[in-house]
Amino acid sequence: MRILFIGDIVGKIGRNAISTYLPKLKQEYRPTVSIVNAENAAHGKGLTEKIYKQLLREGVDFMTMGNHTYGQLEIYEFIDEAKRMVRPANFPSEAPGVGMRIIQINDIKLAIINLQGRAFMQDIDDPFKKADELVKEAQKVTPYIFVDFHAETTSEKNAMGWYLDGRVSAVVGTHTHIQTSDNRILPSGTGYITDVGMTGFYDGILGINRDEVIERFITSLPQRHVVPDNGRSVLSGVIIDIDKNGKTTNIERILINDDNPMK
Ligand SMILES: [Fe+2]
Ligand SMILES: [Fe+2]
Repeated sequence: MRILFIGDIVGKIGRNAISTYLPKLKQEYRPTVSIVNAENAAHGKGLTEKIYKQLLREGVDFMTMGNHTYGQLEIYEFIDEAKRMVRPANFPSEAPGVGMRIIQINDIKLAIINLQGRAFMQDIDDPFKKADELVKEAQKVTPYIFVDFHAETTSEKNAMGWYLDGRVSAVVGTHTHIQTSDNRILPSGTGYITDVGMTGFYDGILGINRDEVIERFITSLPQRHVVPDNGRSVLSGVIIDIDKNGKTTNIERILINDDNPMK
């Protein structure tokens, strides 16, 4: 099994990068399944039904989310029908949507779990305890278990990687929008990277127009976050190879931008 995972798609530039590069990436890497983090796909915050469907049409098989899951209020209207999406599993039980889905690809079942960290983030349920519960459930069905851990700090993500080592196929971090170069296979066979990085505006700050962000740091005053529609793009992802026992055998980074063009 080969998983292509692409980090946080931010706004139109990010969506355009998917249209441009996903077909090429599929041709080059021939993934069994293509998963993206879509928490910022609609203007930087959340996901609309139109964009959810557009991403599926363009060849995305599955979407994970994060702290911006409910950023577009229309998500309440379609999240129950959105079977190819998970939101962080450790949101309070009242939150609409589900945190784990088991999908069938040919004769293989893959469990996809989304969790969210708590350090410097919303104080939601314990992601580690939630992981225990869901991993136990998934293991009854399949050895292939993929986790997107959406968290702010490197230490919390590192802790989740080690905590789940040997129990899941891979733990990839998202949310900080900057790709880390620590992709590795942990000793018991779990593929790990602290952050996959984002897919969107290359010349901004985390996909957002830089001027307002810099201004906020200088003045400490609130600023409007602007996600531009035009500009140079970056696409950040990973390719993960998993053997029949559900262990990662290879995890490679993908980073495409004008400084690292796709060959
Ligand atoms: Fe994000
Ligand atoms: Fe996030």
